[in-house]
Amino acid sequence: MTVTSPEKAKIELRDVRKSFGAVNIIHGLDLSIEGGEFVVFVGPSGCGKSTLLRMIAGLEDVTSGDIFIAGRDVTELDPAKRGIAMVFQSYALYPHMSVRENLAFGLEMAKTPAEEIERQVQGAAQILKIGPLLERRPGQLSGGQRQRVAIGRAIVRKPLAFLFDEPLSNLDAELRVSMRIEIARLHRELGNTMIYVTHDQTEAMTLADRIVVLRDGRIEQVGTPREVYEDPSNLFVAGFIGSPRMNIVDAIYAGDGRIKIADTVMALGQNFAGVAAGDGIKLGIRPEHLNVAQSSSTALRAKVDFAEYLGSTRYLYCYLPSGETITVEQRDGRDLSSGEEIFLRCDPERLRLFSTGGDRLRSANTAGMPTA
Ligand SMILES: Nc1ncnc2c1ncn2[C@@H]1O[C@H](COP(=O)(O)OP(=O)(O)OP(=O)(O)O)[C@@H](O)[C@H]1O
Ligand SMILES: [Mg+2]
Repeated sequence: MTVTSPEKAKIELRDVRKSFGAVNIIHGLDLSIEGGEFVVFVGPSGCGKSTLLRMIAGLEDVTSGDIFIAGRDVTELDPAKRGIAMVFQSYALYPHMSVRENLAFGLEMAKTPAEEIERQVQGAAQILKIGPLLERRPGQLSGGQRQRVAIGRAIVRKPLAFLFDEPLSNLDAELRVSMRIEIARLHRELGNTMIYVTHDQTEAMTLADRIVVLRDGRIEQVGTPREVYEDPSNLFVAGFIGSPRMNIVDAIYAGDGRIKIADTVMALGQNFAGVAAGDGIKLGIRPEHLNVAQSSSTALRAKVDFAEYLGSTRYLYCYLPSGETITVEQRDGRDLSSGEEIFLRCDPERLRLFSTGGDRLRSANTAGMPTA
């Protein structure tokens, strides 16, 4: 089937705002999505992900600002003329039509010649491996098969860009994994710009070229999965991206590149900008970066509350002397049980520092410099 040229389908949002009545939902958002890019929107429920996607699709008016698709201002344009296809969580198939008729319907409405429709239907069926299902009705398909048909219906329209709103959240865990790989394959084969909304951390990390983290109608960070995971801009992104969550612990910046957590002093090996000796800070530590160690003055004392055995790994849910909880991913070592006292160490390079206001604190040596 014809591959749309992805370089044309750049999507740009300029100072886009949305209010429902007096309530402001999206607060002046700027975003530039490259042609052919796979961008994932993540954020807590109600932060505006679907609203944003629906505005790009034209299903929702913008209150102010501009939206460009493939260089064209589409802000006031009818949804059908934007060159966008949207796939929802609910498959929204026509129940009384066969799969073939569902796929062909939009093209028939657009008065596409019959042989062209047949070619498109066969092309989509081949990509999605639904050829043998063409004569069935949606009621005779599994959830995963129905979702494939819904995606097929988007493909036959040959859109400039695909918009997905939690397309896999009705499927069971196993099917989600296989459909996730199908969607990645689809992106590789078609090369279209894709915007994908999800709650699922794994989908966001595995599918995205770039992740857009949203909160309350604002962008908190835009970056590759590696950037948002390893180099979060603020405490919100640090806590939101990653499962189990990054541990956030209260600490004191002790000056000279040292921090103090309860009675433990850790040397960071570098100074930090924007913070003075004696200031309270928030310390971010990923569970997989903590190691159970021997007792020492530079290790954190903790008490195991629960231990979860998951086969390849174990999670230890512990308490620090301050009463704060801390999660440890333990990949080897002995079984630890509830109530045991342990000591935790972390490579200082792995620690992420934040001001109590939630801003990322960076090394004084590289402060203000762009990160590689
Ligand atoms: N038609 C509407 N009228 C009034 N408020 C609305 C309307 N549609 C959405 N909202 C509000 O806008 C906010 C953003 O909703 P939206 O559906 O975009 O969130 P979301 O990020 O997609 O959430 P979820 O992850 O739960 O799907 C919510 O507070 C919601 O209640
Ligand atoms: Mg939504």
